[in-house]
Amino acid sequence: MANLTTRFFGLELKTPILIGSSGLSNSIEKIKLLAQNGAGAIILKSVFEEEIYKEFQHEIEKQAVGTHNLEYLDYFDYEIKNDKVKQYLELIKGAKDAGVDVPLVASINCTTSSDWVFFANKLAKAGADALELNLFVLPSDVERTADQIRNYYFSTIKKVIETVNIPVTIKLSTYFSDLAAMIKELSETGLAGITLFNRFYNIDIDIEKRELQPAKILSHPFEYQKSLRWIGIMSGRVQCELAASTGVHDYPTAIKMIMAGASAVQVVSGVYKHGYKFIADMVSGLETWMDNHNVKSIDEIKGIANAKHVKNPAEYERVQFMKYFGGFDPEID
Ligand SMILES: Cc1cc2nc3c(=O)[nH]c(=O)nc-3n(C[C@H](O)[C@H](O)[C@H](O)COP(=O)(O)O)c2cc1C
Repeated sequence: MANLTTRFFGLELKTPILIGSSGLSNSIEKIKLLAQNGAGAIILKSVFEEEIYKEFQHEIEKQAVGTHNLEYLDYFDYEIKNDKVKQYLELIKGAKDAGVDVPLVASINCTTSSDWVFFANKLAKAGADALELNLFVLPSDVERTADQIRNYYFSTIKKVIETVNIPVTIKLSTYFSDLAAMIKELSETGLAGITLFNRFYNIDIDIEKRELQPAKILSHPFEYQKSLRWIGIMSGRVQCELAASTGVHDYPTAIKMIMAGASAVQVVSGVYKHGYKFIADMVSGLETWMDNHNVKSIDEIKGIANAKHVKNPAEYERVQFMKYFGGFDPEID
């Protein structure tokens, strides 16, 4: 039978089907079900700086003090952050006590660099097996240069890696003008892995109300292609493992990602849409495909279709529909 073990987060994982950070893992019961269905690792919901301050807001109201009372903020800051960490600690410890034996990965999203280090340290001590940084700067500030944004990433990662004694990975966005160089340089910082790519909360417009509204929360199956392209381009050129995220909705897509060079895939929307069985189906689909094709291990197919191995690597970089300008002529009503 095919061996599904792989490595990501600097850890050996039983399967390459990982649960991406989301509310899917916000209780011990849910974590148990994810593990029982074959998840190779579970990335917990990110601790968000905003969320912490929302909680703090509630404290302020309870105490009937003004929101501008900064001394009060300083006073409660530490306690509130500790409380969030306490919840994480209880979740991780509870899941481990309940027999969950797949790695549990903490995820943090902070904006100020001091908070990153504070949380990273606390969460590592809470018993997480690894840490995923949900580090993202939307480059919307016209005053902020690319170098400033880059420096923010590199200095934060350096500080976190120096502070914690568990493997650290990052889930990245595509918002870099030098994406290939960025991924390569990030892979040389000591990160145990890079996940391509995060999918963010998006906005849409309600044309009747003429107002903003949230866009679709869950991904579509056709959204996997951007991650596939970049894993294919970068695998074999980086110093750490790569994982794929966004639009992995079935086992053939997982196989494509592995062939492009991913060590694992992260899934979220598929589980929300189809339930826990989605994970078991992914795992058994992958295993059956490997058996049917006499593939003994994930390593045997990992990267076989990346830019280094395909006949025509330029296909990975082709972005214009040149060939189709004249010839593409489907029947339309
Ligand atoms: C409801 C929901 C909550 C999410 N929460 C987080 C989060 O807290 N931290 C994070 O890094 N990503 C979060 N994500 C993004 C997912 O981890 C994942 O990167 C994204 O959904 C793309 O994967 P998918 O196509 O399998 O859904 C969330 C996604 C969804 C749908």
